[in-house]
Amino acid sequence: MTLPNFAFFKGRIVPYSEAKVGVLTHTLNYGTGVFGGLRGYWNNDEQQLFIFRPLDHYRRFLESAKLLLMELPYSESDAVRFTIDLLKAENLRTDCYIRPICYYGDEIIGVRLHGLHPELTIVSIPFGSYVENEEGSHVTISSWKRVDDNMIPARGKIAGAYVNSAFIKTDAQRAGFDEAIVLNQDGHVSEGSAENFFIVRKGVVCTPPITENILEGITRRTVMMLLRDDLGLEVAERQIDRTEVYLAEEAFFCGTGVQIAAITKVDYRPVGTGKLGPITRDLRRLYFDVVRGRVPKYRELCTPVYQK
Ligand SMILES: Cc1ncc(COP(=O)(O)O)c(C=O)c1O
Repeated sequence: MTLPNFAFFKGRIVPYSEAKVGVLTHTLNYGTGVFGGLRGYWNNDEQQLFIFRPLDHYRRFLESAKLLLMELPYSESDAVRFTIDLLKAENLRTDCYIRPICYYGDEIIGVRLHGLHPELTIVSIPFGSYVENEEGSHVTISSWKRVDDNMIPARGKIAGAYVNSAFIKTDAQRAGFDEAIVLNQDGHVSEGSAENFFIVRKGVVCTPPITENILEGITRRTVMMLLRDDLGLEVAERQIDRTEVYLAEEAFFCGTGVQIAAITKVDYRPVGTGKLGPITRDLRRLYFDVVRGRVPKYRELCTPVYQK
């Protein structure tokens, strides 16, 4: 991976090589940080870089920080401004990924959340696909369970909780699968290792509700809106049983990283026809137009980086 040239660090943009922390940093030792993941999409016709739903991403980022008692002196609009400045400094003219991190910079020994000092940093790198088989992934049901709200809340994008995601992803990939579907402690479907999950059953698009230990995904919200308002489909937020996935007509993951990835096989069982289904196909087409600023009614979801 190419490293960034710059970072927003301690309130200003510095060369990436200067954005360093000490080994005793609290978050490095205890996972007491939160992060975000945004995408910038390059629109070649307009020679413009659009950040997708940055205010929504930073709103969730600040909420995640709030869960860890982090009080940053910045609003979501400040964070969007820092991000635009950073992307301009990087002079990015390609699709990119943006990674804000809020961490406790204190270099101390002692596990706790109170009486510590949060710091904000943001970096960006050019970025393409996150998964290889976006139109037909083969996934497994993980033997790992999703972290519970009373363990580490999945609704916050909390650094330490991603050890759970890392176990899930590594075991799935080492067993030859692209990804894994993760169940809650009670056996219902929660989400993927780092993406939200949908199935189509009897023509209704279903996704687990926000009380099922999921991250409240920005892409999930976008997808529900596009399915209802543009593709004219019924969308239900409800519990999903494991075996419903085996009987689904279609299934897909969504998230900023994965975008919209069709799931065509689960543990060697074909989902529906075992090929990319019509709903996932139409949704993918529409989504990629929306994020690049090509759909006028959704244009306000895309924030331009460069002044014209
Ligand atoms: C655990 C988890 N679920 C879902 C998502 C999708 O969220 P979003 O669409 O906001 O990127 C992510 C990615 O950030 C994630 O890490």
